[in-house]
Amino acid sequence: MKTFVGSVQKKILCLGIESSCDETGVAIVDSERNILSNIIYSQIPEHQKYGGVVPELAARAHILAIEDVVRRALSVAGRTIDDIDVIAATAGPGLIGGVLVGWLGAVGIAQATGKPLVAVNHLEGHALVPRLTNDTKFPFLLLLASGGHSQILLVNGVGNYELIGQTLDDSAGEAYDKVAKMLGLGYPGGPIVDSRAGLGDSVAFKFPRPLCDKPGCDFSFSGLKTAARTFVEKQKAIDDTQIKNDEFINNICASFQSAVVDCMENRMRNAMKDGRVLAASPNALVVAGGVAKNSAIRAMLSVLASESGMQYAAPPLNLCTDNGAMIAWAGIENYLVGKIVKEPVAPRPRWPLTEL
Ligand code: KG4
Ligand code: ZN
Repeated sequence: MKTFVGSVQKKILCLGIESSCDETGVAIVDSERNILSNIIYSQIPEHQKYGGVVPELAARAHILAIEDVVRRALSVAGRTIDDIDVIAATAGPGLIGGVLVGWLGAVGIAQATGKPLVAVNHLEGHALVPRLTNDTKFPFLLLLASGGHSQILLVNGVGNYELIGQTLDDSAGEAYDKVAKMLGLGYPGGPIVDSRAGLGDSVAFKFPRPLCDKPGCDFSFSGLKTAARTFVEKQKAIDDTQIKNDEFINNICASFQSAVVDCMENRMRNAMKDGRVLAASPNALVVAGGVAKNSAIRAMLSVLASESGMQYAAPPLNLCTDNGAMIAWAGIENYLVGKIVKEPVAPRPRWPLTEL
């Protein structure tokens, strides 16, 4: 039998809206951990020719898509708006034009129907997915890696996050996307570099492992990205046909990915020895965010968890990248601890998890 979250006995149905980047996502999720629908309109084709997300275009695309995505989410779930108990939407962090579209849509629905509204932090949406899919218990140690963030967090409860480490410059996803761009592989780069890495030799080229010789849990992916760029430029100057050679590209991807995985492993090992983490004695090691789709990162963390006798939780691949289900679930978790909107909320382009 599925367990209810918290002590509430009535099943709660939440409609969640995500619009902080290039996906318009709307889902209907219940408090028994069922995803009744999870509709994602991806704008990737619209941004592909620019090699990255263009914020203005993203905001316009959200406006054009959102109404239809909400209707489809309700219809696939076989529900009407009257059946919904709670409305939730991303209120930041993210590209503010897109966030405003989803947030104001949610405000409109909540006002028209009189239903409670939850302002979800997008990062908390990612962070709580393992509780939706794996019933992971608090506290847990989280590697949160997305296109905008790379952080290690101790998750003590809903709205209760301790920052253990974070990137000092680029996020992991950004580094993946930029390496893909410099190799002419397309956007988004993470999945392409990941699959090309599987075909290459990870020791073909030696890329740096920034900060790995230092104590602490912070990352630096900008130096690694620059090292890859310098290497590619140098090789092009020697022989510019190399950049069209599949084996060469695959080897760069594999060598780059191996450096990213080594950095993450080094920092996570340090995090597991951090005094705050030892004191909390987390139940599980968790990875979330778009980069959590990465095969090598998932494999490394699963070994790390089993070595240290911790449970390991990684969301299914379709719930790693941005989606409405993670926002609906975070909406339910926040609603159940009484965190609903009581006065107007201004969406925030920056909204650290430590400020919830
Ligand atoms: O969480 P997300 O959907 O959006 C943000 O909140 O930023 O993450 C998107 C990021 C992109 O940078 C994308 O390249 C990366 O996740 N990504 C991956 C993989 N799949 C997606 N990075 C590495 N390996 C992957 N397989
Ligand atoms: Zn995200």
